Amino acid sequence: MSARTETRTPDRTTADTVLEVSGLTKTFPAGQSLLARLRGQPRKVVQALTDVHLSVRRGETLGIVGESGCGKSTLARTLVRLYDADSGSVRYDGAEVTALQGAALRAYNRSVQMIFQDPYSSLNPRMTVGQVLREVLGVHRMRPPGQIEARIRELLTLVGLPHEAAGRLPHEFSGGQRQRIGIARALALEPEILIADELVSALDVSVQAQVVNLLLELQEELHLTVLFVAHDLRLVRHLSHRVAVMYLGRVVEVADTATLFTAPRHPYTQGLLAAAPTLEPGTRSAEPAISGELPSPLNVPSGCAFRTRCPQAFGRCAVERPALLPVQGGEVACHLYDPQGPQGTVIP
Ligand SMILES: Nc1ncnc2c1ncn2[C@@H]1O[C@H](COP(=O)(O)OP(=O)(O)OP(=O)(O)O)[C@@H](O)[C@H]1O
Ligand SMILES: [Mg+2]
Repeated sequence: MSARTETRTPDRTTADTVLEVSGLTKTFPAGQSLLARLRGQPRKVVQALTDVHLSVRRGETLGIVGESGCGKSTLARTLVRLYDADSGSVRYDGAEVTALQGAALRAYNRSVQMIFQDPYSSLNPRMTVGQVLREVLGVHRMRPPGQIEARIRELLTLVGLPHEAAGRLPHEFSGGQRQRIGIARALALEPEILIADELVSALDVSVQAQVVNLLLELQEELHLTVLFVAHDLRLVRHLSHRVAVMYLGRVVEVADTATLFTAPRHPYTQGLLAAAPTLEPGTRSAEPAISGELPSPLNVPSGCAFRTRCPQAFGRCAVERPALLPVQGGEVACHLYDPQGPQGTVIP
């Protein structure tokens, strides 16, 4: 990655919403001890996503950040339909995704592709890269048979791999090259949206930069919309036009990258940035990290989920969950920014 610290401006994006997530909720049944089962105790649920609202604009890179366990991967997996949501809606170009069937559903499944952290585990070790791509292109009839070999070469060029790579097996490649293969496989389906979940977190820093820069180039060349899920705030800042911050299964703030990193509004975002030692190279923050323990997703606090760790929490925060409301440059879910004043009306 270059020493670029300026943030991306949403110049290439349009105001056009490609994906609209609203009220998305997903729970998982928690494990239960034998004793609890024998006693007939109700099974607890992991609240992985709670009433998530998020709109993704066509052509943008939207970063998704938040502490481990806040629901980033669950959101990504729900969007690619690896998980069914309990409730809520996902609209793609205005159409409800859960209602899609037949050809429209297959088109959605092609249009939204996920690239995984470890493509090695998702690549068949006995299939060469050429065979993998040939299979994807053939099954989905992306090209007539006579054009498949040329398309494989084109895809390899796109991701910066030599044509000879087609004849080799996954284990013959380095981690960064395997990520390129994973990207080529996703691109074979000509998606509109790429979801990268911790795409580079398993790679060495120098290799990370190459893969991230490839993603930047591909996005501009192919006009992709990218959801970039990552822990590394510096990478997110480098890549994203806008950033969504999640806390315990909720989106608590969304803002354009410059606003989010220079004037974060939500106390959680402020704490997250203050706790990140890597944001400005060579400087270490004197600010304390977020105090207190992350509550269990089995037992999410009432009202605002962050109130138990929030230095600015007040009475209303315990009784009323703040809605995600528009503010200059983004949206925030915090009573401090209630247009009617922090006290507002207390609705238990
Ligand atoms: N398949 C599952 N079964 C049960 N619980 C799950 C499952 N997947 C996720 N969870 C739980 O849902 C919550 C959200 O998990 P998720 O993996 O989405 O978080 P994340 O933000 O991606 O975390 P990380 O940064 O560590 O990748 C966690 O409490 C997790 O334990
Ligand atoms: Mg995850």
